Amino acid sequence: MTQEPELDVLLETERTFPPPPAFADAALYNDPGVYERAAADPESWWAGWAEELDWIEPFEQVLDWSDPPHAKWFTGGRINVSANCLDRHVEAGNGQRIAFYWEAEDADQAGPEGRKEITYAWLLDQTQRFANVLRGLGVGKGDVVGIFMPMLPEAAVAMLACTRIGAVHNVVFGGFSAESVKERMEVSEAKVLVTADATLRRGNPVPMKSQIDSALDELPVMKHVVVVDRCGTGPPMKEGRDLDWAGAVATADPVCPPEPMDAEDPLYLLYTSGSTAKPKGIVHTTAGYLTHVTATHRMVFDLKDDDVYWCAADIGWVTGHSYIVYGPLANGATSIMYEGAPDYPEKDRWWEIVERYRASILYTAPTAIRSFMKWGDEYPGRHDLSSLRLLGSVGEPINPRAWLWYHEKIGGSRCPIVDTWWQTETGGIMISPLPGLTTTKPGSATVPLPGIEAAILDSEDKVVKVGAGTLVLTKPWPGMARTLYREPDRFVETYWDRYGRDTYLVGDAARWDEDGYIWIVGRIDDVINVSGHRLSTMEVESALVSHPSVAEAAVIGVNDEDTGQAIVAFVTPRDGVEDGPELTAELRQHVADRIGKLARPRKTCFASDLPKTRSGKIMRRLLRDIAAGKDLGDVSTLRDPGVVDSLSEQINRDQ
Ligand code: WT7
Repeated sequence: MTQEPELDVLLETERTFPPPPAFADAALYNDPGVYERAAADPESWWAGWAEELDWIEPFEQVLDWSDPPHAKWFTGGRINVSANCLDRHVEAGNGQRIAFYWEAEDADQAGPEGRKEITYAWLLDQTQRFANVLRGLGVGKGDVVGIFMPMLPEAAVAMLACTRIGAVHNVVFGGFSAESVKERMEVSEAKVLVTADATLRRGNPVPMKSQIDSALDELPVMKHVVVVDRCGTGPPMKEGRDLDWAGAVATADPVCPPEPMDAEDPLYLLYTSGSTAKPKGIVHTTAGYLTHVTATHRMVFDLKDDDVYWCAADIGWVTGHSYIVYGPLANGATSIMYEGAPDYPEKDRWWEIVERYRASILYTAPTAIRSFMKWGDEYPGRHDLSSLRLLGSVGEPINPRAWLWYHEKIGGSRCPIVDTWWQTETGGIMISPLPGLTTTKPGSATVPLPGIEAAILDSEDKVVKVGAGTLVLTKPWPGMARTLYREPDRFVETYWDRYGRDTYLVGDAARWDEDGYIWIVGRIDDVINVSGHRLSTMEVESALVSHPSVAEAAVIGVNDEDTGQAIVAFVTPRDGVEDGPELTAELRQHVADRIGKLARPRKTCFASDLPKTRSGKIMRRLLRDIAAGKDLGDVSTLRDPGVVDSLSEQINRDQ
């Protein structure tokens, strides 16, 4: 008897996956008592982790929560992040340990430059040198340094060099547009930008420095630009402003003692999308963040000395900050860093990398897993993936079908999967299995980690025991965002005002099941999650209306089997402008220029007016129903009911 594949999945999701006994026996955490111990005294739980770090001055108080939502962790302590990520490992005799196996996209053509073994000693040397370069450019404690880089070891060096001298980095994902880079540099008043001539993508250099040059000219505060030569494209350099990374580092003083930083000094800014058109500058501080990412990286990934860990995210997102750079380096881990595309030169590139370096832990996003699934089993099938012992997922809910494929085809049915829920704002993982303890269910991030408390509230703000509602976090945690850069009121309003200042509003809907497992349903605000990357509807709308042909635009997220969600745009062109495929293409390009390629609408529908209430409000819910092909019911109260038919017709037509 043949079964429908969907039914298979449905039946499979009833399945649960206890940790394999051998895995559990050898796991760092296999005593369920850890949850109770941490819950009984979360402050001493976190203090225990903090004490494993190297302090310049010990902290006096674990947590000051006297003025919520303004938490202070490890007050009185002084510490340096780069010293914890580098010096202490080198001093312990592990200078020759590999921090990153770096693999260029063109590794097979690039000779010895194509595959580099980056040791802790090398990172420390480069970090000190680059820290001195930054100092020489006038960067001091508290100054902001922008980083717009491909996946190169130099990106990690630049971040660590900032932490060495107490500068605050502001990394912008390399796929963002010049306009986004400019905006983020402008609002953070960055003094220096670190970038590369170009990034290699599917064998071709894609310019970075020359692409942002004209935007840089409009930034009066930006004094210097340091350029890593990745592709030898020789971009124009502006005399007095721009300098070459290699030359500067080679001649720099190799000694730069770590700056003693206050536990609550800012460590970095990272802009992310919110409900408005203006991105939010999430501020993370020093000691609490480092404690959180160190602890969660070790616990969730069951990290051992001989692991080869690969987080395949980009350094430009928070996942890269916490789980490529700070968590793994603080733990002295050996990681893989891959520069390029997953399908270059062929669709088995990742699996070749797993085999080559004998990767034991792989951490990636559901959107990537779904692509691999679509490409076919033959690509992972070509390689020996038996070194893998643990798999991770992050960025969006993972659908059971993708979970099961990942488990079977990548994990050989032997590796636990940790589905990790967290956010840019939380700094580190919050809800996740512990792989030696938690029985997993495909699609559920399971339960809060030890020391973390979550709740689900219904529409009357009552705590839900079994059922759905809005997810909140009810206890402060060390990695929590401290504020929004230059927008302290927006921080309080966005996350803390709703439930009384000691309860953090996540922005996700979620459900507790009968076994106490959490299932994340999705965002409850105007945030769209495309391939695990956060975009705001307003941001995309304001990009669209900035195009001269557009009178009005509304944007919604729709479910998409590849990218989780995809963007659908509803556009009213200006009078006399012709709509159609040409305008669609032009608008897609315009959005790519304003924000970045990932924000391009998947589909664009045109109408002479958007569906509005009689008072003139755009009816987004109706647009969502149109896009989902739902029965629209009575639309007679609309100002112009006719537009609905026209939009529905366009949605159903393939573009
Ligand atoms: C939003 C945060 C965490 C780093 C990458 C994204 C969604 C994240 C999961 C997961 C279900 C997830 C949530 C969250 N999300 N991880 N395991 N299961 N949803 O960081 O850009 O700050 O986005 O991503 O909606 O709120 P981000």
